[in-house]
Amino acid sequence: MATNFTYLASSERYSHMATMYNRCGKSGVLLPKVSLGFWHNFGDDAPFERSRAITRYAFDHGVTHFDFANNYGVPAGSAETNFGRLMDEDFRPYRDELFISSKAGYGMWDGPYGEWGSRKYLMASLDQSLRRMRLDYVDLFYSHRYDPNTPIEETLHALVDIVQAGKALYVGISNWPLEPLKAATRYLRERDVPLLIYQGRLNMLNREPIEEGILDFCREEGIGFIAYSPLAQGLLTDRYLNGVPSDSRMAQEHFLKSDRRTPELLHYLHELEAQGKASGRSIAQEALNWVLAQNGVTSVIVGASSVEQLKNNLETIL
Ligand SMILES: NC(=O)c1ccc[n+]([C@@H]2O[C@H](COP(=O)([O-])OP(=O)(O)OC[C@H]3O[C@@H](n4cnc5c(N)ncnc54)[C@H](OP(=O)(O)O)[C@@H]3O)[C@@H](O)[C@H]2O)c1
Repeated sequence: MATNFTYLASSERYSHMATMYNRCGKSGVLLPKVSLGFWHNFGDDAPFERSRAITRYAFDHGVTHFDFANNYGVPAGSAETNFGRLMDEDFRPYRDELFISSKAGYGMWDGPYGEWGSRKYLMASLDQSLRRMRLDYVDLFYSHRYDPNTPIEETLHALVDIVQAGKALYVGISNWPLEPLKAATRYLRERDVPLLIYQGRLNMLNREPIEEGILDFCREEGIGFIAYSPLAQGLLTDRYLNGVPSDSRMAQEHFLKSDRRTPELLHYLHELEAQGKASGRSIAQEALNWVLAQNGVTSVIVGASSVEQLKNNLETIL
């Protein structure tokens, strides 16, 4: 483990306390309005020093919340492993200033115990995540998706036990439908481990959490809501206005397919661009601003493949 830290965080990082943070539901936790996600651009498939620069830039500007899942990065797990190195080399002195989340739910290892919502999987996965990230605990641990074949009591009891074992401080739920979310809220509250936050995909092109009543439910119940893919993986930016750049997510044709770049989308982007010009905002800033303006949204989790992108996104709120 490195003992001489070369990174000294900016002394200005909390100079925007009044505007940078939102209370997470009715909890004691404040989260930055813009959080950083490690799904893409932080695995072994990305240049490590670029990932380090983005992470440092985030923390230097008050972004205290970093979002992971067991399977982030290529290969799966490498985003957490690389962050473990960053913990040792850069962030160990700042551990108590960071709010780090991870999740389990999607396929992570072979065999019957490597995905979904069993106690067996969740417990083993969090232990693996902690080892990869070189952490004693995460601040927040999520069930990453609803498992229709596992009793929700089994999944939720595992979350409660994880908190009681000190391996996570809070629990969250991601991508669950409304009815099981309501049952989970009751179950966890009765066990004094209240649901801190719901993580769902919300952006100008995907409004399901609003349409399905999830955002309203969270607000009414005092549960935070954190929006993932607030830029629709980059669609709601200037990235694809003039084609598909070879270094973009769309060029990989995996999670973001080029058939999403339709004439209708380009028309919509040009309208957003024109709307933003009036207020001096980029397309990305217009899109983030829209999500943050929805009543009940605590934070947006942005991805970034460069410091410049993150800087642009943070200017939405700074
Ligand atoms: N719970 C879940 O199931 C779930 C699912 C998905 C994501 N998430 C979380 O949400 C995080 C964010 O997801 P996401 O990466 O899809 O979010 P996003 O913010 O919608 O998209 C990020 C991508 O947009 C492009 N971009 C970002 N800022 C830009 C700017 N200012 N100008 C131009 N392009 C810009 C970059 O694409 P290029 O890389 O092409 O440059 C970047 O990688 C993830 O890292 C993860 O933590 C959770």
